Amino acid sequence: MEPKRAQWGSKIGFILAAAGSAVGLGNIWKFPGKAYEGGGGAYILIYLAIVLLIGIPVMLSELTIGRGAQANAIDSYGKLGHPGYKWVGWFGVIVAFIITSYYCHVGGWVLRYVAGYATEPAKIYSDPLGYFYALLGYNATTGETWFPLTGIIFAAIFMAITCFIIVKGVEGGIERFNKIGMPALFVILIILLIRSLTMPGAGEGLKYMLVPDWSKVTFSTVLSALGQAFFSLSLGMAIMVTYGSYLKKEENLAKNAAIICGMDTLVALIAGFIIVPAVFATLGAEGVGKGAGFAFSSLAGVFQQMPGGQFFGILFYLLLLFAALTSCISLVEGVVAFATERFGWKRTPATIILCLVMFLLGAVYTCSQAAFDIKGIWFDFKNGLTTPIFGDFMEFLTDRLMIPVCALGSCLFVGWAWKPQNAIREIELDGKPFRLKKAYSFLVKYLAPISIIIIIVASFATGTTLS
Ligand code: PFF
Repeated sequence: MEPKRAQWGSKIGFILAAAGSAVGLGNIWKFPGKAYEGGGGAYILIYLAIVLLIGIPVMLSELTIGRGAQANAIDSYGKLGHPGYKWVGWFGVIVAFIITSYYCHVGGWVLRYVAGYATEPAKIYSDPLGYFYALLGYNATTGETWFPLTGIIFAAIFMAITCFIIVKGVEGGIERFNKIGMPALFVILIILLIRSLTMPGAGEGLKYMLVPDWSKVTFSTVLSALGQAFFSLSLGMAIMVTYGSYLKKEENLAKNAAIICGMDTLVALIAGFIIVPAVFATLGAEGVGKGAGFAFSSLAGVFQQMPGGQFFGILFYLLLLFAALTSCISLVEGVVAFATERFGWKRTPATIILCLVMFLLGAVYTCSQAAFDIKGIWFDFKNGLTTPIFGDFMEFLTDRLMIPVCALGSCLFVGWAWKPQNAIREIELDGKPFRLKKAYSFLVKYLAPISIIIIIVASFATGTTLS
């Protein structure tokens, strides 16, 4: 007899865990910079339209596949009668594996900054880039490199926390942690929002984010928003299928999909309304950026100039820490669920071994130049932090290629193989109302897959320049 599958203990527990997966570094350090580049309010409107028309239908499809099949991402497709679609699950699990391997190291850097702002803010302010480079084992002035023990230790702590929570189980670990982490994240977000918007000069930034500047919008802005939406909503990564598989049959899938997408988008918007106005008020408009270099180095200038900067610096990195932890947990769970069900491994050893392997793999490429003295495959130190080589390649491989292909697979599966009427039957189980059946069928059969095919083709046509 198959062992009983894990289940979420409560409705709110599931919503917070799924929102915890979606709300991550993508919302906080990618979205604001992308919104700035894409014409502020204009980008926001485009992004909202994408979430509504493509994000919610794909989220609903992934949750429905998982709950319908009650299996991990790879076996779900077979259980629903179409084993030919297993590749979609494989793609998802592989992407989750790759992303976790670097996400846990970035999580470690975030932890380092919580400690750094708490104990030595002056050191960060005096040489922000040097402080970050030191974490990677590089001194920009002397060109000296060393084994980045500090970075590795913090990443190991981050991964150990993730591992511990997963070992505790779906309800006892993941759900429990998210029930604390997510409300904490929202409280911090609101405090930072008030701090940012009350800074003199912040109004300009807020105005920029609210008034659409359509002159900055190009075709690539739309594509980049589409890619951002998938990454941000944790779609195309086996995760929502896995989380959906732990849902009880009486849960309302359509409502849950809308709430999760709504929460994720709200956090991205608030992060935009925190970061852009704060940067306008301190460094000036040109200071707005995105990614690791921006979050770890440029933002130091903002905290240095902000009254109460040290306190708000600690809060900001705590916000990033909660966001990164809840996302990393979901990534690892997608892989662990597969390993335990497919190979019959026990949850604890499977989690420990997989976490260790992903951590070590990430260590090889994040510390490549300094630690192993091989050509830097993550950052090209010589040319500055702005040219992450492997980071760019990884982002292209996962965000631009594998995630969209996997999301496309789930749309094609629901739209054309399993068929929307079967998905709708699962959505309406237990007498749940679903009024947008026709719209959902159209979106999942036509609009979502066609848009995804356009991103994939355009990614190839434009190489890695889209981000
Ligand atoms: N969605 C998260 C973010 O916006 O950062 C990150 C993430 C979580 C990415 C889970 C991928 C994933 F599978």
